[in-house]
Amino acid sequence: MKKLMTSVAACLLLATTAYAADLNPAELRQQAQELFKPLPSTVPAVKGNKITAEKIALGKALFFDPRMSASGVFSCNSCHNLATGGDDNLETSIGHGWQKGPRNSPTVFNAVFNIAQFWDGRAEDLKAQAKGPVQAGVEMANTPGQVVATLKSMPRYVEWFKAAFPGDADPVTFDNFAMAIEAFEATLITPAPFDSFLNGDDDALTAEARQGLQLFMDKGCASCHAGINVGGEGYYPFGLIEKPGADVLPENDKGRFAVTNTADDSYVFRAAPLRNIALTAPYFHSGKVWGLKQAVAIMGTAQLGEKLEGNDVDLIVAFLESLTGRAPDVTYPVLPAETATTPKPAS
Ligand code: HEM
Ligand code: HEM
Repeated sequence: MKKLMTSVAACLLLATTAYAADLNPAELRQQAQELFKPLPSTVPAVKGNKITAEKIALGKALFFDPRMSASGVFSCNSCHNLATGGDDNLETSIGHGWQKGPRNSPTVFNAVFNIAQFWDGRAEDLKAQAKGPVQAGVEMANTPGQVVATLKSMPRYVEWFKAAFPGDADPVTFDNFAMAIEAFEATLITPAPFDSFLNGDDDALTAEARQGLQLFMDKGCASCHAGINVGGEGYYPFGLIEKPGADVLPENDKGRFAVTNTADDSYVFRAAPLRNIALTAPYFHSGKVWGLKQAVAIMGTAQLGEKLEGNDVDLIVAFLESLTGRAPDVTYPVLPAETATTPKPAS
């Protein structure tokens, strides 16, 4: 009997595989287009922040400038390294005074498309977000006043702020610092094979990636991870069906509860955007899971109440790998030189 059951299961598995292999790419695309959107081919417009070449250039300099931190050691790029997927590949980030922060660093690539920023969505947009790390004690540990004093001490920066904010009487401000960084981040877009597929190229995805895409939609992953960033659009309990153990979901981080103070928001997090996910291990806000296959299997049990078969996990991972995009060419900027009045780094 057991043998019969095993062979029935094997046939079912074969049938699923054969069904998946026979998928018509055009039908698959049509289904996918209802859930996902390709990245635009130009820099997106950003609410309340007209994007100009001058702002982008200034924002890039600020993004790479470690003097924006109190110690003079940490730049945005320290934890969002544009050469390694836009994150730091650490469990949780290391910042000021070698302190370990509480959460894993998400990628800045395509972050402009997220509904709100941070794992718990506590910053409305990128300009609100950019003011956070500079002041966070475990990150850059600086103050807005000190950032402005540092910037004003370097004539080249003053010129760049004037060019980026031509109408402003006093352009070197912390608000404008954040606006310029937001403008630069809006350019950090990574078109991927999945976009080419959505745009009509059948061959952009391997057969495995197409089967994985079908599974991603059929199993219900796309009910939370959809839209332009394949996630980043809504909030859900991590452990909707089965709460992962404290080794993956530490009990002290209650996610959106800290933002809304509503009991229903305990352990609620933003459904993570999945573009470039193959580059951004370790996974989850805790950074406790190093393998993408393991992360997918955890999502199966935690969010769908389903133990995913090994083959299904492999196919879903093949799809997720098709979300790895072409990183923008970013030339490392030469930064303005310090002067005698530039504040000295603090320890
Ligand atoms: C989150 C940008 C500096 C570590 C984020 C996000 C963005 C960002 C856009 C949200 C991404 C998302 O929600 O998907 C910046 C900029 C920085 C900067 C522009 C410089 C001004 C740093 C530094 C560190 C760091 C220096 C490490 C010491 C993190 C962490 C998170 C985060 C851990 C997630 C925090 C949470 O969700 O509570 N950053 N970042 N960032 N960044 Fe940064
Ligand atoms: C996180 C994939 C289903 C909500 C993640 C991550 C992956 C993933 C790889 C880690 C992202 C990162 O570390 O940057 C999948 C797959 C699914 C699935 C393959 C289907 C098998 C779902 C569903 C929901 C959901 C159905 C909502 C009910 C979330 C949330 C997070 C997340 C809230 C963030 C968790 C955290 O705070 O660390 N997903 N997911 N996912 N997913 Fe899913």
